[in-house]
Amino acid sequence: MLELCVCIGTSCHTKGAYNVIQTFQQMIEEKSLHGKVNFKSSFCMKECAKPGVSVSVGGDRHRVPAEEAREFFNTVVVGKV
Ligand code: FES
Repeated sequence: MLELCVCIGTSCHTKGAYNVIQTFQQMIEEKSLHGKVNFKSSFCMKECAKPGVSVSVGGDRHRVPAEEAREFFNTVVVGKV
């Protein structure tokens, strides 16, 4: 099971964490990945100064601009499932 975690701390919230979460949920539905992805949220990942929303995929940290969430899911997340 791949662990996918989106930061919902204040800084990431203002950078669009809610939109990233919505997009990821939608993609999990579309691709029927419920049994393969453990989707969670997290408090501040201590990377607020970097651009984009903090996302952890199988323990690897990434920064995801909200408008690139769909593309990120298709390339990075799907590639690891
Ligand atoms: S609020 Fe997301 S890294 Fe700090």
